[in-house]
Amino acid sequence: MSRKAEGPSQKMWGGRFGEGTAASVEAFSASIHYDSRLYKYDIAGSKAHATMLHSQGLLTKDELQAVVGGLSDIEKEIDEGQFVFRPELEDVHMNIEKALIERIGPTGARLHSGRSRNDQVALDLKMYVRDQCDLLSDLLNGTRRAFVVLARRYLGHIMPGYTHLQRAQPVQIAHHMLAYYEIFGRDCQRMADCRKRLNLSPLGCAAMAGSGLPLDREMTASLLGFDGVTANSMDTAGDRDFAIEFLSVCAMIQLHLSRLSEELVLWSSQEFAFISIADRFCTGSSIMPQKKNPDIPELVRGKSGRVVGNLISLLTQVKGLPFTYNRDLQESQEPLYDTADTLSASLSVITELLGNITFQTENMAKAANSGCMTATDLADYLVLKKVPFREAHGIVGKAVVYCLENNKELAELSIEELTGFSEKIDKNVYAVLDVEGSVNSRTTTGGTGLARVEEAVAAAEKNLGII
Ligand code: ARG
Repeated sequence: MSRKAEGPSQKMWGGRFGEGTAASVEAFSASIHYDSRLYKYDIAGSKAHATMLHSQGLLTKDELQAVVGGLSDIEKEIDEGQFVFRPELEDVHMNIEKALIERIGPTGARLHSGRSRNDQVALDLKMYVRDQCDLLSDLLNGTRRAFVVLARRYLGHIMPGYTHLQRAQPVQIAHHMLAYYEIFGRDCQRMADCRKRLNLSPLGCAAMAGSGLPLDREMTASLLGFDGVTANSMDTAGDRDFAIEFLSVCAMIQLHLSRLSEELVLWSSQEFAFISIADRFCTGSSIMPQKKNPDIPELVRGKSGRVVGNLISLLTQVKGLPFTYNRDLQESQEPLYDTADTLSASLSVITELLGNITFQTENMAKAANSGCMTATDLADYLVLKKVPFREAHGIVGKAVVYCLENNKELAELSIEELTGFSEKIDKNVYAVLDVEGSVNSRTTTGGTGLARVEEAVAAAEKNLGII
């Protein structure tokens, strides 16, 4: 049974209510335990709004000074952990406004003129997401930098490239590292797009229809670093597209981190033995003394579940919502914070881990020299000797079966054995059967030939300002 508060409502919106709110309703609807993290944005937004109210003749100079001073004091108190947030005041907006009124008196009650919590929360969230876009872009560039450092360090070393997780063609380790540099580069661009699209101020849309007071929306927008103002108050009051777009960019990045993590887990296994991860980045088993486990990449891979889940959560919240503000939108906040926190922690730890891995280049080279991985090169060799590619593919397929049956590599076959498959083959074939020769022949743009990869490493270093 819900407790009914004694007497009339004490709420800021309590005027039309004959009784206080049930305790269960207060507990269920409060968001202060998570939206308190918006306080800096809320205060910056309120200061800009007050400045604009003053310039429009809706606050005197003294009133503006009192509001701004009071808000600064409140911000300091919150910074220092002295401020007590009250759940009965629901959210960060009303906690701060109430504190202002208690501090500076009736002048504080003028601040909310021409403003609703609907445009206020949209403003705070946009400013939060904007900052997170910047933070995450910086972290992403840190991750990209770690890959470029690895690419430079291992330039010239060869590993097997895989398709279907089967050895496919030999590649430069550096080429693989730069593949990650590229993928996270696209993610940076997505973040920048998301930031650009969201950067229009909602302030002044008020509840959903705009305001009858003479507000200057452009002024608050420019004070708060927006590129302009949103065009339609109804759209703005119910818009969480920016949050969904941000969560979808984050989900994409976390998926990319998950794919990277999967490779790190595989490569650090005894079966692959391609990398070793420094002990301080691994954990042990409570029962098996010999174990050294790659928990960090496993956790990053696992966290992709919650990050994708947070995106689905927002998509589902918005589906079927009638236009403008509905309280459902409050539910957009926790997934948003969880994703931003999870992704920034994942990026930070993965970047650190990348600085703590060693490639076991001998094992990688050995793996690259097995599995008949220069078969495509032999087919290309025949193509250059005017054999149609499909025919060449068949000839080389037979040579591969012969190798498997005789436990040999293509490069180990004698010239007699090779000419048995096609008389077009002559002694110079060994140049293309050699793994290094194979890698370095791939000089198409974006290919793994040493010259190309050297150029790509240098371009990436220049791009990130490494040299
Ligand atoms: N805490 C609310 C939220 O996050 C603020 C907006 C409340 N608006 C309203 N009309 N009840 O959505």
